[in-house]
Amino acid sequence: MIKVRNLTKYYGPHLAIENVSFRVNEGEIVGFLGPNGAGKSTTLRILTCFMPATSGSASVAGYDVFTQSIEVRRRIGYLPESNPLYPEMRVKEYLNFRGKLRSMTPNDRSSAINNVVDRCWLGDFIDRPISQLSKGMKQRVGLADALLHNPQILVLDEPTIGLDPAQIRETRRLIAELAKKHTIILSSHILPEVEATCQRTIIISNGRVQASGTINEIRDRITGASRLIAEIRGPKQEIENAILQIDGAKKVDTTVTENWNRLRIESADGRDIREQIAALAAKNNWGLRELKHEIGSLEEYFIQITAEAGEAGKTDSP
Ligand SMILES: Nc1ncnc2c1ncn2[C@@H]1O[C@H](COP(=O)(O)OP(=O)(O)OP(=O)(O)O)[C@@H](O)[C@H]1O
Ligand SMILES: [Mg+2]
Repeated sequence: MIKVRNLTKYYGPHLAIENVSFRVNEGEIVGFLGPNGAGKSTTLRILTCFMPATSGSASVAGYDVFTQSIEVRRRIGYLPESNPLYPEMRVKEYLNFRGKLRSMTPNDRSSAINNVVDRCWLGDFIDRPISQLSKGMKQRVGLADALLHNPQILVLDEPTIGLDPAQIRETRRLIAELAKKHTIILSSHILPEVEATCQRTIIISNGRVQASGTINEIRDRITGASRLIAEIRGPKQEIENAILQIDGAKKVDTTVTENWNRLRIESADGRDIREQIAALAAKNNWGLRELKHEIGSLEEYFIQITAEAGEAGKTDSP
């Protein structure tokens, strides 16, 4: 449904995204997850034909976003990051205005507005001025607007940002409802958000795709590739040999600081051999002051990516 190949975008000299590639299949709900400045909005703006890429290609339902933008826009409903609404307009008036901009006939507009008002739970608010709506309600007006031409695909850039927990729950529920009929790609910088809403996730940071798959697949991969860190006091060689005898231990690298050996232990198939290591230390009377997964969870992995992006950001700034 969506195919993105090697998208790269420079803003002037600044590289925002580099060789971003991914696919979204029909009917999927995919989370585009990354810290601030990762390149989420840039990618989504290119996909929705708001901005050209510097290089690479992208297609939506078989149409090229650069050369067939009218066809692409017809199939995409886009909720931008900071959605500009007209505060002085009433909800229905605004949607009617948006329908006119899309060249919809009065009849089409009328039935489309009834439909999206219903789908976005706006029934009681259609005559309210937008300025009087809460942030969550405004976001629903934005969603209704994105849905007006009944697109196959919805592209939602941080749809719950700035909302309170109750509104976040409502919006998530609405997105889940919309996902029954539309392919959805949504961005977020919050892992639990994507975990709660999406079937699959694409993790982006520093303008590059770092991982993709279902949350569980990514979690398995990280745990599978994870290593243990152990800090043990005692004779280095003896400790290393003993650890390598543990069933499942594959490789040990040690650095020594003062009397402590900091061991980085790789286990086969991501097996957890912490208990055996603790038992070994106890049996031999070696001191043990740390024993943990080097990367224990998706959260840590994500925090690590975020931290790396932060570090990179620091060197970037003037
Ligand atoms: N119009 C612009 N001109 C110059 N640089 C830009 C512009 N828009 C974004 N950038 C830079 O491009 C990079 C990617 O920005 P982008 O807005 O795509 O990130 P994001 O993942 O959407 O972040 P956020 O979570 O803060 O919305 C950042 O380093 C940002 O500073
Ligand atoms: Mg953004």
